[in-house]
Amino acid sequence: MSAAGIRGKVRLSKAKPDHDRCFLSPFESLSLSLNGFFLRDDFLGQAVCSRVRSEVVRKVNSQSLRQAGIGREQKVDTSIRGDQFCWMEKSEAGPGIRELMSHLELLRKSINREFYLGLDRFEMQLAHFAPGSGGYKKHLDAFKGRNPRNRRLTTIYYLNRGWQHGDGGELSIDLKGQDVFIEPVADRLVVFFAEQLEHAVLPNQKSRLALTSWFHSP
Ligand code: OGA
Ligand code: NI
Repeated sequence: MSAAGIRGKVRLSKAKPDHDRCFLSPFESLSLSLNGFFLRDDFLGQAVCSRVRSEVVRKVNSQSLRQAGIGREQKVDTSIRGDQFCWMEKSEAGPGIRELMSHLELLRKSINREFYLGLDRFEMQLAHFAPGSGGYKKHLDAFKGRNPRNRRLTTIYYLNRGWQHGDGGELSIDLKGQDVFIEPVADRLVVFFAEQLEHAVLPNQKSRLALTSWFHSP
């Protein structure tokens, strides 16, 4: 390598890291553009993940969740959708969930930069599938095709420590007719284009917790 090349390298490594720009790895960007999704393990690290989990468990135990419905009328049909949910507001969130929200902010900026989506906000929902629930049948998180009110990007952060094969509750994503199964293990983040990918949650044997966020553009 030429001296100029080496000097260039040194200068680069001394540069202040631009976290917004580095947030997506090249592999994640590629997977998002080719497949419409990617997943990242160890998203927040064990300590922060445990904190998020205890905040979420406290919320579930406070009886503030309600049975999820489907469609515009939010009709309850547990054979289609079996979770209980509540919205998470930043103003009421504990330090763990606020940390998750600030990481999702970095993700938002980074995806905007690479994919020109103009995402400007997200809303977060806590979902709890009690043991023995029937999961959530195949669906799209957005209206079909472009719609100004659409959710454009979905992220799901899982909180299930010690998840084992047989516990169920896998996320199944339909990738061009082929289902890909994703285990809902603690500290895993799944990211996908909400208008593109149909997905389902398989029935679960053990309690299943997740924080789902939907990103919008104006
Ligand atoms: C949803 C959903 C998937 C999951 O809430 O719309 O599809 O893995 N959740 O929790
Ligand atoms: Ni969904």
